[in-house]
Amino acid sequence: MKKLTELLSLKGRRVLITGAAAGIGRAMALRFAEAGADLDLVDIDAAGLSQLADELACGSHRIRTHAVDLTDRAAIAALWEGMGDELPDTLINNAGSYPMRDFEEMDCRFLEKTLQVNLESALWMAQGFIAGRKRNGGVIINVSSVEALIPLRDDLIPYGVAKAGVLALTRGLAHAYGRDGFRVNVLVPGAIRTPGTERLRGAAIRQIDVDMIKTGIHFGSRLALGRWGKADEVACVALFLASDLASYVHGAMIPVDGGFLAS
Ligand SMILES: NC(=O)c1ccc[n+]([C@@H]2O[C@H](COP(=O)([O-])OP(=O)(O)OC[C@H]3O[C@@H](n4cnc5c(N)ncnc54)[C@H](O)[C@@H]3O)[C@@H](O)[C@H]2O)c1
Repeated sequence: MKKLTELLSLKGRRVLITGAAAGIGRAMALRFAEAGADLDLVDIDAAGLSQLADELACGSHRIRTHAVDLTDRAAIAALWEGMGDELPDTLINNAGSYPMRDFEEMDCRFLEKTLQVNLESALWMAQGFIAGRKRNGGVIINVSSVEALIPLRDDLIPYGVAKAGVLALTRGLAHAYGRDGFRVNVLVPGAIRTPGTERLRGAAIRQIDVDMIKTGIHFGSRLALGRWGKADEVACVALFLASDLASYVHGAMIPVDGGFLAS
């Protein structure tokens, strides 16, 4: 039987994290580096990536950064082509954004962009990963949202649709590729303090957006743990899922939401 430290270690592994420059993705990069993984860090924010890479440079892990707009399918194809033989064995589809617009004012472009960043990026990234790894298998961790299961705001419908698609994508891939050695799961975060959610909170307060402030209060009242979560608390669950501790966890949907979905 393997020791616990061995089960948790990611030494000799290479993990690709999208949306790594900020928030949950950044916290994942820090924890995965601590567990010994080499990293491919992907984000549209080149400056944020290089700052993170500098921070991680003191360790022994090998880090590559890739400034990529994941809404651009051709850029995703180029990313996989550019990897050469040194492909990651673990893919974390974390990048996303939560654009809001009144449903009746939504146009094609808005819907397209929301689906591209939150759903299609994960789908094309998974396709490139599976094609590259072929029969070697690997680990995929997708990131959905509580919004996929319980709609909170009426101006977030396309985001909820995209994140519900991420749940379906996860189960579809788990069903199709489990026997080829791919382990696929999805995290369902909610109420995590990150630059993304802080921007929303800040804007609601600055603009005295009563509707948004009400959402915040309603949201807070459903957090059974009585507090917002930290990005690191999602990163730690991702680390468990990526590690051999979770070797029989497959096709699972794991909320990291302070009890939001349960209350
Ligand atoms: N924070 C929460 O409470 C929460 C709740 C539910 C789901 N999520 C999901 O978790 C993930 C991370 O959220 P976060 O709160 O850390 O967000 P964040 O805004 O703090 O960070 C997101 C990162 O993704 C990157 N990104 C955005 N668009 C990109 C693109 N087109 N190409 C490449 N990179 C891009 C950003 O540059 C940023 O570094 C998202 O998928 C989000 O939907 C977060």
